[in-house]
Amino acid sequence: MSEQKERLIVTVQQHILQQQQQFPDAGGVFSWLLSGITLATKMIQAKVRRAGLLDILGDAGEVNVQGETQQKLDIYANEAVHHCLGIRDSVAQLVSEENEEPRSFDGREDAKYIVVFDPLDGSSNIDVNVSVGTTFAVLRRSAGAKGPEAALQPGHQQVAAGYVVYGSSTILVYTTGRGVYGFTLDPAVGAYVLSHDDIKMPPHGDIYSVNEAYIDDFPDVYQRYITGLRRGTFGRRYKSRYIGSMVSDFHRTLLKGGVFLYPPTHSHAEGKLRLLYEANPMAFIAEQAGGKAIDGRRRVLDVQPHSIHQRTPLILGSREEVETFERLRDEG
Ligand code: AHG
Ligand code: MN
Ligand code: MN
Repeated sequence: MSEQKERLIVTVQQHILQQQQQFPDAGGVFSWLLSGITLATKMIQAKVRRAGLLDILGDAGEVNVQGETQQKLDIYANEAVHHCLGIRDSVAQLVSEENEEPRSFDGREDAKYIVVFDPLDGSSNIDVNVSVGTTFAVLRRSAGAKGPEAALQPGHQQVAAGYVVYGSSTILVYTTGRGVYGFTLDPAVGAYVLSHDDIKMPPHGDIYSVNEAYIDDFPDVYQRYITGLRRGTFGRRYKSRYIGSMVSDFHRTLLKGGVFLYPPTHSHAEGKLRLLYEANPMAFIAEQAGGKAIDGRRRVLDVQPHSIHQRTPLILGSREEVETFERLRDEG
């Protein structure tokens, strides 16, 4: 029998340190910041894994800024991120889905970064044991910028973006604009270990992912697109998958290709997903992996935000599927 040679693992921390060489002014600050995020997600995943055992399932009886009922784990996850990042001196501001106003650290004149995040995405899925996640993006704070306006930057200015899926394993995917890398949490080591090197999204796939129950409420071009995908009009027959956690639906789309979309509806002209901490981080990762992300009209990363919780329609995925939508739209 041949002896198997053990490969040395690469942790996310080591990887970030290497990537950080692109931030010569950062001097360890950036990796310290990202380690705050990875620590928070480890805390969240520990709670998610024990969700059925702890008294943390169900509503907390509060309604968040989006008018949605907060789940207990939403609150815990939000506190975990605030706890782990709030003490990092490099953080000037934290913008969370769960807080109406950003939390600003005004005393930190030299703090370089703003972190925007959705602490728990897909939280209505927790009670039924379906994958949920966390999404985040890091923005550079322009000198002295304060208040919510400081975070109102188009997505192409993101310094880093990523997400964690608390699924059958816990995986963290991130980019700093030099490719996309995935790390699986090794419970034995307690560290995120490189498992998906330089991820590339397939140029096309055979899955579309949308809440099809709303199709009658979608604008005409979206209806024709989805019907065309289903019927094989664009040269390929598609399967449908919809988890209802954007982060999980996107993770599958990243690895297998195809398209994820959340269109506008009659009642929500801007769709449901939030630009700053849901659409933008996914769009950055998608583009870095060779895919595309549009809001139906233009590139998501070019949209100038006007408020921190603004929503956006989203079409995200393999280059060919997104371009098929654009062609259909332009043909009128
Ligand atoms: P959140 O749990 O952070 O509020 O996000 C839920 C979002 C997103 O994860 C998912 O894609 C979408 O809601 C599902 O919405 P529908 O139930 O309308 O399909
Ligand atoms: Mn969400
Ligand atoms: Mn959320």
